[in-house]
Amino acid sequence: MLDIRVEETAKLKEKPDQSALGFGKYYTDYMFEIDWDKDQGGWHDARIIPYAPLQIDPATMVLHYAQETFEGLKAYRNPEGKVQLFRPEMNAKRMQNSNKRLCMPYLEVEDFVQAVSALVEHEKDWIPTAPETSLYIRPFMFASEPGVGVHPAVSYKFLIILTPVGNYYPEGVAPVKIWIEDEYVRAVKGGTGFTKCGGNYAGSLKAQEKAEAHGYTQVLWLDGNEKKYVEEVGSMNIMFLIDDTVVTAPTEGTVLPGVTRDSMLTILRDWGYKVEERKLPVEELMTAGREGRLKEAWGTGTAAVISPVGELYFKGEEVVLNDFKTGPLTQKLYDTLTGIQWGKLPDPHNWIKVI
Ligand code: COI
Repeated sequence: MLDIRVEETAKLKEKPDQSALGFGKYYTDYMFEIDWDKDQGGWHDARIIPYAPLQIDPATMVLHYAQETFEGLKAYRNPEGKVQLFRPEMNAKRMQNSNKRLCMPYLEVEDFVQAVSALVEHEKDWIPTAPETSLYIRPFMFASEPGVGVHPAVSYKFLIILTPVGNYYPEGVAPVKIWIEDEYVRAVKGGTGFTKCGGNYAGSLKAQEKAEAHGYTQVLWLDGNEKKYVEEVGSMNIMFLIDDTVVTAPTEGTVLPGVTRDSMLTILRDWGYKVEERKLPVEELMTAGREGRLKEAWGTGTAAVISPVGELYFKGEEVVLNDFKTGPLTQKLYDTLTGIQWGKLPDPHNWIKVI
């Protein structure tokens, strides 16, 4: 249990227009911060303080060696006006796993959830209520020790910032064109693919740029060892409806264990769908597409929730899915998951935490 002190400010910002929030354009009045110092016995000085720039030494280790991890989750205002989170303990556990891989200390699950809940409660007037909106929560942690020697830092900062958001993609839930990348890779066995560390995202930009140059919106990543199996799409997990079975990559070290991924697989199993978490060769995927057996495909993530795939491109061949329209299963999954998240549908798995 953290002892969180609150430092109030008299200067509050004007709230943005809820019809034009975008994604990550506005930040709330306060942030959460806590320090970890080896020579002070670990975590200390938990506080909610006015949102402000950080002042850091130019030698701060994260700027040089990228010891950094982050998370993403959302707060929603339910129809009764209560504030709710969606499976925050999953984010807490995933951040622990990310931090362990990067030799960083981590918060206990209950402390992470307490910090998120306390900041969201403090900033609840910022939770937008317009359709398709929410308050995006960004916890992150970095090596704050100044130094240019390569070793795990002895000081860290963990912060949480909040941003009211609309759709991640300006076009909303609309099919996108996907470039299957066979040159650059996102993750390799034994690497950091299963973590949410900033470095994974920096390393992905080049392929994204390449896809865009060819007129595609997102990259479909193949495994980094054989470039044979389908793994993720952009910064999201991906699922395919092939015949009557939903297929997605297993989370075996190179794939991020997405909260939205896990929730959708659970919902699909509830509905009686056959679900396979297995290695899917890109050749099998393209063959299914060519033969009209690839009915739908969609990316899953907290930020966009669902991103339907309209077209796949691989080595000179294009496969269009469902006439470039959002498929019925994709739409039903989106409606069901967001219905639970916004408190409009029952929550049979107790995923919602009302704060
Ligand atoms: C998500 O889908 O939630 C992501 O991880 C994207 C985020 C990096 C903006």
